[in-house]
Amino acid sequence: MTMTAPTETAAKPELTDEVSAPTVDPIELESGVRSYSRGWPAVFTHAKGSVLTAEDGSEYIDFFAGAGTLNYGHNHPELKKVVIDHYLEDRVVHGLDMFTDVRRTFLQTFDEKILKPRGLDYKVAFPGPGGTNAVEAALKLARKVTGRESVVSFTNGFHGMTLGALSVTGNSMKRGGAGIPWCTPRRCRSTTTSVRSSRTSCTSSACSPTAAAA
Ligand SMILES: Cc1ncc(COP(=O)(O)O)c(C=O)c1O
Repeated sequence: MTMTAPTETAAKPELTDEVSAPTVDPIELESGVRSYSRGWPAVFTHAKGSVLTAEDGSEYIDFFAGAGTLNYGHNHPELKKVVIDHYLEDRVVHGLDMFTDVRRTFLQTFDEKILKPRGLDYKVAFPGPGGTNAVEAALKLARKVTGRESVVSFTNGFHGMTLGALSVTGNSMKRGGAGIPWCTPRRCRSTTTSVRSSRTSCTSSACSPTAAAA
C-alpha cells in the first residue's frame, strides 16, 4: 500500500497546558468498553472507609469495595502513609520483577505471617496486576503440569477478559463482547450431530459471535 501526503494540512490546534472550557462531553469521548459507569449515574470524588462521595455531595455505602480488593476500605490511614512515604522517599515505583527491598520485606512478612503459622509449603508468584492475569497463570500452570488441555468451567462464571480467561467463561454476553463464539466442537448450539462430534469449526449461525452476544 502506498500513502500520499495530504495536499492540504489541517490547522493543528496549539498545544498548551491551559485547560479551556470543555467543548465535548468527556463521557462521550470515552470508549463504550465500560461497565459500571454505565449503570451508576454518579461522578465520584472522594472515598473514605466504606463511604463513597459524589460531586453533588451524595454519600454511598460502597458495597462494591473495589470488586473485593479494598479489604481495608478506601484510603486507610496506615496504608495511605506507606504509599505516600514510598513516593516522597523516591523509592522504586516500577520494577518489573527486579528484586527490591520492598519485595523482600513483603515475601519475608508473607512467610512469617501467612505460610509458616499454617505449615504451608508454597511458592509465591506475582502473576500481574489483574484477576485475569492470575487466571491465565493458573491455566498455564495446569496445562503444563498435567499435560492436558481440557478445563472444566461453570456456566455463567466470570474469570476476566483476556482470551484465556474468556475461553473458560460460559457467559455468552462476555464472550460475544470479544467476538468469541459460544461454540466449540464439543459445545455447540447447533443440533447437527456431525458438528458436535467433529473437530472442524462450526459455521452454524446459532454459534456465531453475534448470536453469543444476543
Ligand atoms: C471472579 C473474578 N475473576 C476474575 C476477574 C477478573 O479480574 P480483573 O478485572 O482484575 O482482570 C474478576 C473481575 O471482576 C472476577 O470477579
